[in-house]
Amino acid sequence: MENIDIGIFGGSGLYSFSEDFEERELDTPYGKPSGPVSIGNCGGVKVAFLPRHGKEHHLPPHLIPYRANIYAMKQLGVKKILAPTASGSLKAEIKPGDFVICDQFVDRTSGRRDTFFEGPAVRHISSAYPYCPELRKLAAEIGRSQGVTIHEKGTVVVIQGPRFSTVAESRWYGKMGWEVINMTQYPECYLARELGICYVNISLITDFDAGLEGDTRIKPVSEQEVFKVFNENNEKVKTLLFEMIRQIGANAGGFACAHCGQ
Ligand code: ADE
Repeated sequence: MENIDIGIFGGSGLYSFSEDFEERELDTPYGKPSGPVSIGNCGGVKVAFLPRHGKEHHLPPHLIPYRANIYAMKQLGVKKILAPTASGSLKAEIKPGDFVICDQFVDRTSGRRDTFFEGPAVRHISSAYPYCPELRKLAAEIGRSQGVTIHEKGTVVVIQGPRFSTVAESRWYGKMGWEVINMTQYPECYLARELGICYVNISLITDFDAGLEGDTRIKPVSEQEVFKVFNENNEKVKTLLFEMIRQIGANAGGFACAHCGQ
């Protein structure tokens, strides 16, 4: 096993990380990951980058090989995963361009292969606190210091996709008190927990989902809007990731995380 320190999953709109990285084809007992993994050095820290939808965005959320992607990171020795995503907001006060550092998910997906423990090894892993509290704190502090509007916690409801939600579904999710909506956080986040990898999600808000109750100016989300807002904010996401990598690397003892078992 190699000792890559940090893994990054790129989401919609983030398909490459650094031109100096070298691409590597990997295989796992769960099949091939979404594409070649780009591996390189970021200020002395070894980083592996994988766009979860593939470089050409050819994999829809329900067909992403989540197990292969997480397992490939594990094979590389990754101990911490930084996982930005494009996400919708279910609350008026969480606006496009804001970042939410989610602390909980609600799984509304179906039929995804969502465990490594299918026998003979059978385990039941807690998902009570699925996100790494240390990485969340770091992401929030750095994001704020860079002038980003940060919501330091939030529940992401993960829908099956590829369709966006109906108005009724979106209203329901909002009324449940959930803040963020997305299509890829499950099972990616949980699978990292199964393998004892610290995982943080940085939800870049691109839209207000099916709209906001009582505000007819806001139209239901479209695919074009998600990509447009993500592209407008791509640099902000990368700047945050680079500084997280730098600070994790600078903290020599920083790879001990009691919560995640590292
Ligand atoms: N990704 C970005 N915006 C989204 C939304 N409104 N619903 C689901 N996934 C999304």
